[in-house]
Amino acid sequence: GVKKPEAKVVCVGLDNSGKTTIINRLKPPKTKQRSEEIVPTVGFVSEKFQAGGLEFTVWDFSGQGRYRNMWEMYYKDAQAVIFVIDSADRLRMAVAKDELEGILKDSSIQKNNAVFLFFANKMDLADSCSEVEITQLLDLPKLLRGKTYNIVSSNAIEEDINKTGIIEGIAWLAGHVK
Ligand code: GTP
Ligand code: MG
Repeated sequence: GVKKPEAKVVCVGLDNSGKTTIINRLKPPKTKQRSEEIVPTVGFVSEKFQAGGLEFTVWDFSGQGRYRNMWEMYYKDAQAVIFVIDSADRLRMAVAKDELEGILKDSSIQKNNAVFLFFANKMDLADSCSEVEITQLLDLPKLLRGKTYNIVSSNAIEEDINKTGIIEGIAWLAGHVK
């Protein structure tokens, strides 16, 4: 068959935001690739799989502070950044914004003109921020000016994959990676 285009994607965001859970939902079901139990990521995990008509090469990073400086080593190859936010973690929205600003300052991100997909995750939790609130709290229109980006709310633990928001987000990504 026709070879699917390959997309190099980095998945970042603070610890506990749901990055690994989201990536896990994208993997083909009933394969050994999919993890049964998700634990905090140590360092990073690199994986390849097909989703949304793309061949994904994803680096799923630990969001813990001591690993965040590793993110930048992988930006130079990335065509897309998936930035996951815990929408219910209002206290750390400013920390998430700081990390995003750090990414955007990276010269290879600037050069590659990578596209950004934000998952406003954990929308199932009470008192979680809406996409609109997160857009404001992270100052997205200003920080992402001139870049191709989108924010999609998600619930990565919803049983029905079509109701998670993940498919919608990845479909957008697949349509916008260059
Ligand atoms: P690190 O690897 O430590 O950076 O964390 P991570 O961003 O990969 O988060 P992970 O996927 O390990 O999820 C952290 C916790 O949040 C787990 O207990 C998940 O089950 C839970 N979780 C993930 N997504 C959602 C969601 O949409 N809603 C709710 N309620 N819980 C979620
Ligand atoms: Mg993880």
